[in-house]
Parts: sequence; C-alpha cells; structure tokens
Amino acid sequence: MAAVNGGSESQPAKHQEVGHKSFLQSDALYQYILETSVYPREPASMKELREVTAKHPWNLMTTSADEGQFLSLLLKLINAKNTMEIGVYTGYSLLSTALALPDDGKILALDINRENYEIGLPIIEKARVAHKIDFREGPALPLLDQMINDEKFHGSFDFIFVDADKDNYLNYHKRLIDLVKIGGVIGYDNTLWNGSLVAPPDAPLRKYVRYYRDFVLELNKALAIDPRIEICQLPVGDGITLCRRIN
Ligand SMILES: C[S@@+](CC[C@H](N)C(=O)[O-])C[C@H]1O[C@@H](n2cnc3c(N)ncnc32)[C@H](O)[C@@H]1O
Repeated sequence: MAAVNGGSESQPAKHQEVGHKSFLQSDALYQYILETSVYPREPASMKELREVTAKHPWNLMTTSADEGQFLSLLLKLINAKNTMEIGVYTGYSLLSTALALPDDGKILALDINRENYEIGLPIIEKARVAHKIDFREGPALPLLDQMINDEKFHGSFDFIFVDADKDNYLNYHKRLIDLVKIGGVIGYDNTLWNGSLVAPPDAPLRKYVRYYRDFVLELNKALAIDPRIEICQLPVGDGITLCRRIN
C-alpha cells in the first residue's frame, strides 16, 4: 500500500493497517492527489508536525494531509474567525485551522489529553499561531454544557470541527447546534468510519471499528433528517459531514 504519510521515513503510519484515509478507488490515485496537490502546498510547519506525528504510536488518529488542506480552504471560504475543535491529538487539524484564521482569530481546542497536544505545541509556537489557541484539557461535554448555560456563547462560533469520541457525537450535536451561529458550519469527522458502515454483519472488523460503527450510523441518520441544518457528506479523509445551521 502506498505510504500515507508521504515524506516521512519513520515507521509506517498506522492508517496503513486499516486502509488509508480515503475512499478513492486506488491507493495510487490517493498518492497522486497527495503528491500533486497537497504536499507541494503544505506549509512547512504542517509537514513537520505530520512527520513528528507519524512516529507516534497512535498516529492512526491524525487528520490526513488532504483533509487538513480541505479544512484550511473551507475556513477561508467562510471567513471563519471564532472556531472550536473537539479532539486535538498532536494538533494537525488545529494547526491547519490556526494558519487559516486571521491574526485575531480564535480556536477553543478541547481534548482529554494534553500530553499529545504538547508534542505539536512547539511547532505551533514556531509557526507563530499559538496565540489563537485556547487549549482546555478535559472531556468536552461538561464544557459544552457550561457554554450552553451562558447565553453569550449561543450562536458565537463560525466553525466547529468534531474529531473525538464517536459515541458522543449526537450529544455534541445537541449542544453545538446552539453554539454555532446561523450560517455557521459544524464538521463531523469520520462519518464514513473506515467503510465499515456498509460491511456485512460478519465482516472481520477491528474491535474499536465495530464498537463505534453503530454510533456513526445513528449520527448519520440523525443528521440526514435534522431540519435545523443543511448537510453534505464528503468522502474526504475518513468522511466528513458538513452541517450548515439554517435556523
Ligand atoms: C482522532 S483524534 C483527533 C485528531 C486531530 N483532529 C488531529 O488532527 O490530529 C481524537 C482525539 O479526541 C480526544 N478525545 C477523546 N474523547 C474525548 C472527550 N470526551 N473530550 C475531548 N476530547 C476527547 C482524544 O484524546 C484524541 O486526542
């Protein structure tokens, strides 16, 4: 299989064990996109963070370079300024967001694990975008509840990227729909869940893939009928569903 984290000479990225983070018909075509359109334009800091992350034992979790590029363009297209990210890991999507926002842009970044964020932090600091980030360590849900209880946060976010515990996505959605502004966007990551959503019941799935599969199926069903949003589910990375709040 083609290297996912191209350019890195370290141990192979964990994605390779479970299929790359794309639903294209061939690894070669995915590699073509990375090498033609993504890597040549990837900021040096993001390349450095991608390569550092590739050496980490949980590198399976990182956002892929093509999705990082997608997020960056999307944020610029919608002129995002105030954003939130749930699920930071070493910070690849966070750095992509921080680089895309204007100098006075803000990212509220939530993760239960600060240690992994600190792997990326020196690179984020070197890229001179750390001042945009307010990192909070801890489970996201209680913090979202605090914000829900404070009117000033309602409708205050231009963009929210959710890439954390899939069994909580519907709980997040119940809160985020009030926190994102009308016309703002929530992006739910991994909504194609490694292709497992259409696997037969007896398919040999990894334990965690099988465990979270039903939650992702439920999320997709709920988003599809939610009248408060317009949606588009894109086969970028492991699938990202964009939800634009309409009322
Ligand atoms: C797939 S990784 C995020 C990848 C990241 N977006 C990137 O670009 O590398 C998922 C992250 O969600 C975090 N997480 C899991 N449960 C969480 C929770 N309840 N609240 C906040 N973060 C959580 C994990 O610690 C992990 O770092």
